[in-house]
This record gives sequence, structure tokens and C-alpha cells, in this order.
Amino acid sequence: MEKTFLMVKPDGVQRNLIGDIVARFERKGFKLAGAKLMAIPNELAEEHYGEHKEKPFFGELVDFITSGPVFAMVWEGDDVIATARKMMGATKPAEASPGTIRGDFGVTVGKNVIHGSDSKESAEREIGLFFETSELVNYEKDQ
Ligand code: CMP
Repeated sequence: MEKTFLMVKPDGVQRNLIGDIVARFERKGFKLAGAKLMAIPNELAEEHYGEHKEKPFFGELVDFITSGPVFAMVWEGDDVIATARKMMGATKPAEASPGTIRGDFGVTVGKNVIHGSDSKESAEREIGLFFETSELVNYEKDQ
């Protein structure tokens, strides 16, 4: 079964959006395989966002994601990577459709509430960065 890595960013945690965001993926029918509230160490933030290292906003990105707790999750289901991206909406909240997470709650491109893996390769990499295998739970669940 396909897995993806999703993370409520510090702005989403501060604004009490964890419950709403989890509920959206539960109601959609996806299966939660792991979740934790955590503070991201600087080295992990730099590794997670490694592909943006040369971008002018890299420092800002790392400062923001380490500025407060995040809620890291692994979700499972058919086409969960692409579907979760659709449910999140466009990276820039101004371009995100109403009804999507960023469309409903996001304000700026930096503080855009949620991160989600954009491919199978990044999902595998990001799950490995944030979770030990022992933190992921295997169980049966009807959709
Ligand atoms: P995310 O999906 O977490 O992956 C990379 C992040 O970079 C993206 O969400 C945005 O929050 C952030 N980002 C993209 N463009 C900018 C920008 N111009 N300034 C600050 N952050 C940005």
C-alpha cells in the first residue's frame, strides 16, 4: 500500500489545526500509520529541505520549520501521495482552491500550514528521515 509523509507545520500547530487536518484524511478514508508531535532539530530540517539548499528562502524555510513543534504523520492508501497533494492545495495559498487545506487556512507561501511528499521517492526518503520503522503501525482498516 502506498504511503506518504505529511506534516502540520508550526503555524498549523499554533492555530489549532491538527485536529481538522487529521479529520480530513480520516474522512477521506486514508489510514494513519504513524504520528507524533515533535520539534525538528536544525540538521533534520536542513536535510529534509536539502533540495532547496540553493534557494534564496532556504534560511527562512529552516528557521520557520524549526520555530515550534510540528505534527509529523505517515498516511497510507491507494494513490495517497497525489490525493493528499490535491487535498493540501497549491503551495501558494493565494493559488490554492477553496476546500483545500491551504485554500481554507493558508496565508503566505512560507506559512502554508502543511507539507506533503511530492513523489514516491520523496515519500520514502521523508518517512525514513522522520520515523523509525518501529514507530509505524501495521493494522487492518476498512476504508
Ligand atoms: P513545502 O511543501 O514544505 O516545501 C518547500 C517549501 O518552501 C514550501 O512548502 C513553501 O512553504 C516554501 N517556499 C516556497 N517558496 C517560498 C518563498 N518564496 N519564500 C519562503 N518559503 C517558500
